[in-house]
Formats: sequence, C-alpha cells, structure tokens
Amino acid sequence: MTLNRVVIVGSGVAGLTAALRVAEHSNVVLITKDLVREGSSLYAQGGIAAVLDQTDSFESHVEDTLRAGAGLCHRETVERVVRQAPVCIEWLLRQGVPFTENTLPEETGKASMYHLTREGGHTHRRVIHAADATGRAIELKLEEHVRHHPRIQILEHHIAVDLITHRKLGQNEPDRCAGIYVLDKTIGEVIGIPSTHLILATGGASKAYLYTSNPDTSTGDGIAMAWRAGCRVANMEFVQFHPTCLFHPKAKSFLISEAVRGEGGRLLLPDGTRFMSNYDERAELAPRDIVARAIDYEMKRGGLEYVLLDISHRPADFIRSHFPNIEERCRQYGYDITREPVPVVPAAHYTCGGIITDHSGRTDLEGLYAIGECAFTGLHGGNRLASNSLLECLVFGEAAAEDIRVRTFPDPPLVLPAWDESRVTDADEQVVVAHNWEELRRFMWDYVGIVRTTKRLERAHNRIQLLMGEIREYYSNFRISNDLLELRNLVLVSELIVCSALARKESRGLHYSRDYPDLAAGPGLDTVLSP
Ligand code: FAD
Ligand code: SIN
Repeated sequence: MTLNRVVIVGSGVAGLTAALRVAEHSNVVLITKDLVREGSSLYAQGGIAAVLDQTDSFESHVEDTLRAGAGLCHRETVERVVRQAPVCIEWLLRQGVPFTENTLPEETGKASMYHLTREGGHTHRRVIHAADATGRAIELKLEEHVRHHPRIQILEHHIAVDLITHRKLGQNEPDRCAGIYVLDKTIGEVIGIPSTHLILATGGASKAYLYTSNPDTSTGDGIAMAWRAGCRVANMEFVQFHPTCLFHPKAKSFLISEAVRGEGGRLLLPDGTRFMSNYDERAELAPRDIVARAIDYEMKRGGLEYVLLDISHRPADFIRSHFPNIEERCRQYGYDITREPVPVVPAAHYTCGGIITDHSGRTDLEGLYAIGECAFTGLHGGNRLASNSLLECLVFGEAAAEDIRVRTFPDPPLVLPAWDESRVTDADEQVVVAHNWEELRRFMWDYVGIVRTTKRLERAHNRIQLLMGEIREYYSNFRISNDLLELRNLVLVSELIVCSALARKESRGLHYSRDYPDLAAGPGLDTVLSP
C-alpha cells in the first residue's frame, strides 16, 4: 500500500499537531521558513482555555466565546471546539507537556489537578498553562516528537512561495491542489514538492502592523497563497490588538500576558488613576477589544505614550512563581513588577479572519486544508476570546488529520514543472523592499488600526494599490527572496483587511469605525471575499 504524501506548511502548534496526527497513517513533509520552533506559538504566554473543573461547564465556555465574538461566532463550531478541548489537553499531557500543577486548590477550583488561571471575557478560571510560557512548553515538546518521527521529513529554512494547482498545470477541472513551490533559503533555489494533501498552518498576519506582539514569521503567507489559488477568505477586518505589550524602545514585541490582569493586575493612567471601570463593568477583565479601545482612547485623550499595568499589590512570591518569564524580562528592561507598575501599549496580536474552512479544515480547493491562525472556522467571530487560539490549533490539527486518513486521492504528479527563472536577474536595490515594508506597516498602523474611518481606510487602499504595482514589477523582474515573498503576501493580506473593513458598515467587535459607530440592525454577517 502506498501512503498519502501530506505536505504541511508551518510548524507552530497547528502544524506540529497535524504532523504528529497525520503521521499516524501517512507520510509527512513539514516545511517551515525558519527553525521548527519559530512562530507565534513559541511566544504564547497565558495558556489554553478548556473546561477542566467541576464548577465550570461547556455551556459557560460556549457562552463566553459567543459573547466575546460580538454576534459573529458560528455556534456549531464553538460547541465542537469547546467540547473537544479537554480531549486535546489529555493528548498534550500524553505528549508530556508540563502544565503547572494546582498548589492553591482553594483559589482555583478543587477538582482540577492543574492550575487554572483567568483571562478577560472568561467567567470562570479555565486557562491551563505552563507558568507564563505555555506556548514554549508545548512547542518544544511537540518538536521533540516530530524530530524523532520516522514518517516526518522536516525542511527548515524553506519558505513556501505558491501552491501548485491542476488549473495552473493546465489540467482539466475539477481543480485541486497538486503541491507547492518552495524556496530553499540556504541555497536560493526553488523546488516543487508534490502532495496528495496539503495543509497550510502558516499563522497570522500581524506583521502588517508597525507594532505587534508577533514574531517576524507572521506575514500572512498562507492566506495570500490560498487566495491566489482561488480560495475565499472571511472576516479579515477583525484584527485583534492585545492591550498590554511592554513599552520600551528595546522590548520588540514583548507581551505582558492577560493572565496578569486575570490575577489582579490593574490598568492605571500615569497619575495612578484606574480607568477601566469607566468603560465596562468587568473593568480590566473585559474582552480585549474593549480594553484595547479604552487604552487607545485614554492615550489619545491625554497625549500619552503609554498607560501602566500594576500587579505590585500582590505578594512578590506569588508574582515570581506565576510570571517568572515576565518578571525576568521586565527586570532586564529595568522594571521590577513586584514593586512598581510597567508601561504598556496595545499592539496587533491576532488575525481573527482567514481562509474559509469547514469542520475538517477543508478549504475551497480540493486537497487543500488550512488550520490554526491562518484559517477561518467561525470560532472567533468579531473578537477572539483569550486562550481560544491554541485550542483551535489543536482541535483542527486533529480534525484535518482524521479527514485525510479517510480521504485518498490519486498520487500527485511525480515531477512538477521547474520554477522558471529565465527572465529574472538578481535584485539591484534591496532597499526598495525594505522601504516598502516600513511604509506598509506604518500606514496600516495609522489608518487601519484600533479606531478606523472610511477616509483613512480609503487612503490605505490607495497606497496599497501603488505598492502592489511596484511589487508586481519587482517580482517579475528579479530573483525572489524571503523578504520579497513576505512583503508580497503582506501587501495582499493588507488589501484583504482594508477591503473587508470598508465593506463593514457598522462597528462590531474589533472593528470600530467612527463613521459607523453602531451595530447594524439584524443578524451579524460575516464579510466574505472571493478572488
Ligand atoms: P504559528 O505558531 O504562528 O506558526 C506558523 C508557522 O508557519 C511558523 O512555523 C512559520 O515559520 C511558518 N510559516 C509561515 N509562513 C510560511 C511559509 N511561507 N513557508 C514556510 N513556513 C511558513 N493564544 C492562546 O490561545 N493562548 C495564549 O496564551 C496566547 N498567547 C500569545 C502570546 C503571544 C506573544 C502571541 C504572539 C500569540 C499568542 N496567542 C495565544 C496566539 C497563538 O499563539 C497563535 O494564534 C497560535 O500560536 C498560532 O499557531 P499557528 O500554528 O497557527 O501559527
Ligand atoms: C496572553 O497571554 O495574554 C495571550 C493570550 C491569548 O492571546 O489568547
């Protein structure tokens, strides 16, 4: 029997989960543009939301997710994911992930062996975690298994360029995915990799913004590739801004977990005034859209560079044991969080929209799946509930693997047409790419940020058209590089964000427009874009 040849692009929690699950029945080629561990997953702090305590319930997790999602979550997806959460946590425990144990049962619920923390929008303590570096604990453990798996071949420092489809190969309909072109960054050569099934697990697109909590890998590559291959995307306007990134010239993208507020952290103006209760009765534990908007408003109103986050009223031992990494990183930047508040600002954090998929991760293109942050499953609606993202990676990583197990496709073509470089030369001016990157991220921050107006969105749209023209020309004349590919993808995804934002004539969840400050009447609708 020949096994499926499943290509997985991306090695965050979604990609690694899928790789291990798929390898139970098929051969896997795991492609990743940096080291295996690099990606947003590695930096996840707070944890994973799951009902693990007898005082909690699936209904409550479902309701909290729906409420945060501002009327746009797909209830059926939410229910599936929430019910699958404890099973996924069991799987992670079997893989050996060292979650923090519960040493304070009176505080956290008696039935759980593991410490459950609280985050914004959750009405219960339900976030299981590994201190304040949950993503790292999961990612490193899964990486260990993937590296030793005989059916998984890993290609690090390989960046996927574009999907290969039957249509592009000039074959008859129905169209389907036949593989992918990948640039080997170490030798600068493009190779074609055929697949029976291909899973995109490429993460989000928060690098479209000047200030972000995300690592450099979050450039929307999977969303852009799927779009170019004919897949629809949804709800791209819902960009989540995390309220509390450390404000320090050298602290590039360092997040201060929402769990700090969950364990009592307070937001203050520089004069020490607490302000969140003016915006929401849940104060610091309101969902992220509300907290980020309140901070943005206070910063603009007071001409402030930052607000303060203070947990110093809790015992120093408690802070050090719950937030060892945050405490240490802040100390490196000159702040002792056990004694003083730290300056924080909001930053782009999460892409709620993405490639439209069904409950098995299938996209519009036969043979192509999308999972994790690059996908749109209907789970997050207009605003993702904290710690539901790693959960989504786990649930859909498994669901896609199961779907692939029962769906066989004919073998892919063994040889794909070679990448054509006959008409390109080496790029003469790398500065053009660097300049366009900088320009894009700045105007996305200024014009397509937390508070939007139609005029600013239109301005951004015009700039994007100019950049697209330049990049198209650059792409057809010069040899491709990592930076050029990422910029090309990021500009395309920015266009999808702006077009979706222009299409939404209301304010809802993470999308706030001064020109349409109210909710539209009637049921909430997803913004669906087709290529
Ligand atoms: P990623 O982990 O981003 O992985 C994407 C992978 O794709 C990477 O390996 C990347 O190199 C690769 N890739 C991308 N493009 C290409 C390409 N063209 N070719 C080859 N490879 C490519 N969520 C929670 O639920 N709980 C939390 O506590 C939490 N904390 C967070 C803290 C921070 C600082 C950040 C940034 C996010 C946090 N999130 C949290 C969100 C969550 O971490 C992410 O949504 C999730 O990890 C996404 O996983 P992923 O596997 O989809 O993508
Ligand atoms: C955090 O720890 O604040 C991030 C949690 C999340 O993004 O879900």
